[in-house]
Amino acid sequence: MNKTIAFISQKGGVGKSTLARAVACDAFKSGLSVKLADLDIQQGTVTEWHRQRLNNGYEPVGSVELFSKASLAVEAAGNHDLLIIDGAPRASSGTLDTAQQADLIILPTCASRDDLVPAIKLAYELENKGVQRNKIALALVRVSTEAEIADARDYIGQSGFTVLTGCLYEKPAYRQAQNDGLSVTETRYKSLNNKANELLESILTHLISE
Ligand SMILES: Nc1ncnc2c1ncn2[C@@H]1O[C@H](COP(=O)(O)OP(=O)(O)OP(=O)(O)O)[C@@H](O)[C@H]1O
Ligand SMILES: [Mg+2]
Repeated sequence: MNKTIAFISQKGGVGKSTLARAVACDAFKSGLSVKLADLDIQQGTVTEWHRQRLNNGYEPVGSVELFSKASLAVEAAGNHDLLIIDGAPRASSGTLDTAQQADLIILPTCASRDDLVPAIKLAYELENKGVQRNKIALALVRVSTEAEIADARDYIGQSGFTVLTGCLYEKPAYRQAQNDGLSVTETRYKSLNNKANELLESILTHLISE
């Protein structure tokens, strides 16, 4: 396996770095060699999180590095099984470059129309610029109720883009875990870890099928 997965969005704060960290964590634990590329050169969220992780004595998630462009991350990834790209906070000219480098592009979105509309718009923009539709998948994050999940799935469904099974609920325990250098699958609560794992498994399954 030599695959690249990218997390991008038009809006900031939708959960790119959260999912990128969790995928890196799960893939590393399942024995893959992982490179986690941090394209957020201003905030360095993932890089800082990894420093915190090692500082607290937890095992690494592979090699984590800052890059100014996705293509440089791909060059540096060499023989890693999995390259995970955490995109810049907002869509920019680099977003298309990032998408073009990836086998699977995940657009995380919350369930509000405020977030769904720009996520679907970005999916259409990528498609219009030549990115294959089947490489794009939306992931529901920071959701609260079954009703809003169903509503969001329905709304995305109308666009015809894929929405992944599973979702990430809005929980302070997920924030707390990440504060400590852990991923959303490594909280103190088994049920929350299991819930998060449903979405992560769906991401990895989707990647393997690409
Ligand atoms: N399921 C969740 N429950 C609670 N808090 C969450 C959840 N998912 C993400 N967060 C928090 O929301 C904030 C934004 O998440 P994250 O940093 O992953 O988004 P991002 O898309 O990478 O943001 P940016 O565009 O700034 O890079 C962070 O403080 C994160 O800890
Ligand atoms: Mg981020």
